[in-house]
Amino acid sequence: MGEFLGWCIVVSYVLAMLNFAFKRINKYYISKLPNKQENIKKQFRVVMKPFIKYHRYFGLLAILALTIHFIYIYLNYWISPTGVIAAITMVILVSLGLFGYLIKKGKKGTWLVLHRVVAFLMIFAIALHIARR
Ligand code: HEM
Ligand code: HEM
Repeated sequence: MGEFLGWCIVVSYVLAMLNFAFKRINKYYISKLPNKQENIKKQFRVVMKPFIKYHRYFGLLAILALTIHFIYIYLNYWISPTGVIAAITMVILVSLGLFGYLIKKGKKGTWLVLHRVVAFLMIFAIALHIARR
């Protein structure tokens, strides 16, 4: 169960990261396709849209899964130091997202640069935690 909940966090994280992946693929590849491939462009954007729209909910899902993973493991085993590092990173990441969304109303700024940097640091935090639970 502890492992399952851990993977739920990872899946939510990946779903949130697809926001970034889709946008970049769209900008550097899809939008540069010739106009006669209009159909591919349209289809790509249809698939991309929900990932942009629900980005914040995937992030909140990750925090929810993290809370349950933490409580379950805290009650059953011990406190994993690498888990705590990953959790702190995730809390900073989601706080930055909430700040940008609620206070800055999604306008670009330092918060977004930090939000993006921490999102990528999260990969190392997760890898470390899985390698040394
Ligand atoms: C963003 C934060 C976290 C992520 C993404 C995460 C992810 C994961 C994943 C994917 C696993 C399963 C690894 C496997 O299948 O080999 C796992 C296991 C585990 N995690 Fe986390 N975790 C996080 C936070 C935490 C925290 C805060 C704690 C400690 C309180 C913790 C303690 C553990 C423990 C003890 C296991 C082993 C569970 C078992 O063997 O049943 N994790 N975690
Ligand atoms: C696991 C959690 C999260 C991850 C991995 C994540 C990752 C990212 C990344 C990489 C970007 C940059 C996109 C780009 O460069 O185009 C971004 C943008 C953004 N994030 Fe997050 N984020 C998370 C959670 C959240 C949450 C919880 C919120 C708000 C409640 C949020 C709000 C935003 C906003 C407003 C933007 C800028 C607009 C946009 O690209 O949609 N994020 N996020």
